Amino acid sequence: MVSFPPGFQWGVSTSAHQFEGGNVHNQWHEWEARGRIRSGDKCGFACNWWHEAEEDLDRAHDLGLNVMRLSLEWSRLEPKPGKWDKAAARRYREIFKAVRSRGMRIFTSLHHFTHPLWFEYKGAFTSKEGPKLFNYFAERVITEFGDLCTDWVTFNEPNVYAAFGYMFGEFPPGRINDLQAGMAALIGAHRAHALAYDTIHRLQSDAGVGIAVNYVVFRAATASLSDRMLARVYDAAFNRSTLSFLKTGSMPGTMSVLAGRVPEAVGKIDFIGLNIYNRLHVRWPKAQDKAGGIFVPPDVPQGDHGVELPYGEAFPDGVIPAVEVYSELKKPIYILENGVPDRTDRIRPWVIVKTLQNISDLIQRGYDIRGYFHWSLVDNFEWNEGWKLRFGLFEVDPRTQKRSPRLSARLYRDIVTQNAISD
Ligand code: NOJ
Repeated sequence: MVSFPPGFQWGVSTSAHQFEGGNVHNQWHEWEARGRIRSGDKCGFACNWWHEAEEDLDRAHDLGLNVMRLSLEWSRLEPKPGKWDKAAARRYREIFKAVRSRGMRIFTSLHHFTHPLWFEYKGAFTSKEGPKLFNYFAERVITEFGDLCTDWVTFNEPNVYAAFGYMFGEFPPGRINDLQAGMAALIGAHRAHALAYDTIHRLQSDAGVGIAVNYVVFRAATASLSDRMLARVYDAAFNRSTLSFLKTGSMPGTMSVLAGRVPEAVGKIDFIGLNIYNRLHVRWPKAQDKAGGIFVPPDVPQGDHGVELPYGEAFPDGVIPAVEVYSELKKPIYILENGVPDRTDRIRPWVIVKTLQNISDLIQRGYDIRGYFHWSLVDNFEWNEGWKLRFGLFEVDPRTQKRSPRLSARLYRDIVTQNAISD
C-alpha cells in the first residue's frame, strides 16, 4: 500500500485553447489557418468547454478531485489591445464558480502557449514591451477574478514555449534554430513572470504564484564525451533555466555570460510546478540531423507516435531528478502535469502508478510535494499534433463530443478516493 499525506491535492490539468474551442484571436488559430498543424486537424470546438465545461467538471468531481488547473485565454479577454471583453470575463467567472461549487480549488495559468495575435505581431516575449503588456493583463485578471482564485501559474513551460517556437519550428512563430530569438523569448517570459509576481502580490495578500517547468531527462546514447557533453548542455539549457533565473537571475553556468540577465526574478516564486512526461536520448548530431541529436530508441516504453515525431520515451522515473533539482528552491512542489499519449490506454495505468509511487517515495524522503495533476481529464487538442495524440482519462470524439471513460479513469478515481494506491 502506497499512501499520500492527508490533504494531498489531486487534480487534472487543462488549458484554455486546448479545451474551450472557438478561440479565434490568438496566434495558434492563425497558425492553424495557415495549415501549419501537421495532422491537418482543426482545433474547432476543441472539448467545447466555452459552452459546456460544466459537464466535464462533473466528471472531475466524480473522480473525487479536490483541485483543477485551468488557464485563461488572454486573446478572449483582450482581443484588441486595451479592449476587455466583458462577456468573456462573465463566462470565465461562471466556469470558476462551477469548479468551486464542485468542491475543487483552482490553479489558474495566465499563459499557456497562446496569446492574442496583436501581441504576437509585436514580437511577443522577445520584444521589450512584451513582459509589460503581459503584466497589464495579469493585473486585470487578478482584479477581475481574485475573489475566486489565489493560486496562479504565471507561465506554463517557458522552456517548451521558447524551444518549440524558436528552435524546432513546431509552434508559432515557427522559427528554426533561432537561438538568439529563443533566448530572448525565454528571458522575456521570466521577466514577465517577475513583473506579474509583484503585481499579483500587490493585489492579493494570500496569493501563491508559481511557474510550470517541463522537465525532460536527457540520456547520453553512449559514454562518449561528445554524447555526454551534449546531454549536459540540453539538461542545463532546458531543465535548469527557470531554476537558474529564479536563483541567480541568469542562465545556468557558463551560459550566464552569453545570455541576458533577469535579476528581478531572483527569489520570486511561492511554489514550483513540474510537468513530467519524457526521457529523450542524445547523440552528437551528424551533419544532416535536424533534431539536434535528439532521438527515441525503438525499444523503450512509448505512448502513441505523433504524425512524424515520436512523443518521447514514457519515463515515470523522471519525476525523481525533477524534484531533486527543483527542491533547491526550497518551495512547495506540485506535479502540475503528468501523462502519456495513449489512445488505447496501453501504458497509461503504468505511467500513473509508477509516477505516483515515485512521488510517494520522494515525500517519504522529505520532499515537500503537495499535489499531483494528471494531464488530462479528457482528450484535447494537442498543439502541433492536433487530435492525433490522446491524453485523456476520458476519450473524446471531437466530432460528436461524446465522452467514454478509459480504464485509467477508474484507476485514478480509486487512487484519489483512497488517497493511496492499494496493492
Ligand atoms: C505540456 C503542455 O503544457 C500541454 O499543453 C500539453 O498538452 C501536454 N504537455 C502534453 O504534451
